[in-house]
Amino acid sequence: MRHLISPLDLSVAETDRLLALASDIGKNRSAYAHVCDGKKLATLFFEPSTRTRLSFESAMLSLGGSVLGVSSADSSSAAKGESVSDTIRVVSCYADICAIRHPKEGAALVAATHSSIPVINAGDGGHQHPTQTLTDLLTIYSLKGKIGDMTVGLCGDLKFGRTVHSLIHALVRYPGIRFILISPPELRVPDYIRDGVLEANHIPYRETTNLDDAMAELDILYMTRVQKERFFNEEDYIRMKDSYILDKEKMKLAKEDMYVLHPLPRVNEISVEVDSDPRAAYFRQAQYGVYVRMALIMTLLGLEGTVC
Ligand code: NCD
Repeated sequence: MRHLISPLDLSVAETDRLLALASDIGKNRSAYAHVCDGKKLATLFFEPSTRTRLSFESAMLSLGGSVLGVSSADSSSAAKGESVSDTIRVVSCYADICAIRHPKEGAALVAATHSSIPVINAGDGGHQHPTQTLTDLLTIYSLKGKIGDMTVGLCGDLKFGRTVHSLIHALVRYPGIRFILISPPELRVPDYIRDGVLEANHIPYRETTNLDDAMAELDILYMTRVQKERFFNEEDYIRMKDSYILDKEKMKLAKEDMYVLHPLPRVNEISVEVDSDPRAAYFRQAQYGVYVRMALIMTLLGLEGTVC
């Protein structure tokens, strides 16, 4: 049985196969409409979510399956003190596959350890978010025709942003990736990513606080929200929340074929005036999220070979 807890749970070859399947799904949705007939997806969301939960549900419904789930800790037995391991044991009796989001780092791994159905990590605290990464990879591939030989700017909250951590893990496995890491000094990428992933893989990168200076070099700009819910101190959040605001003026500094990605939700970090720029890819990215989750559900249920 397979789980997806970290992007590294899929090899590069498996990731590329999954992205190819997701691309095909995007082009031939009707061919996949009954792949999961009779199958159930449980969504266990113990932290707020709009896109991830709804895109999982949309993905399973588009495959002909059905969905059940909890959308907050308050509305489930977690509020009574039930452990993740007990919850997943029970959910394993009700569903064929499960997506879980939890505020604690490592919660999805604990769930997987006690589960008899495939578990997908839909975000564990400030740690990892592998299905957002698959979404990001599909977006990059679809827009640029390749993943690799490019300079990727990651901007905003690189400390608490789990999408950033997972994306770095995944991208360093492709050739010719360079990073420009743009953040306030307090929100730099954690040491375990800088030393354990970037340095360890000899990946060229530079850390800066200045977005303007980096713009002209970038092929992809990945903007992120300052993760308010992970701050210990409201004053720090208020001081840092508007560190970067991408607007039309900044976009003038960028290449014609540089694309802006954002996992969403956006707060202030991309001005709405950028939305009409053809290089603003974040809403298309949300659509790609449904296709990759369809491909992922099929893959983890061993159904990826069932559509010719
Ligand atoms: C992200 C998350 O939950 O980490 N959102 C998402 O899943 N699309 C990013 C965020 O909340 O800032």
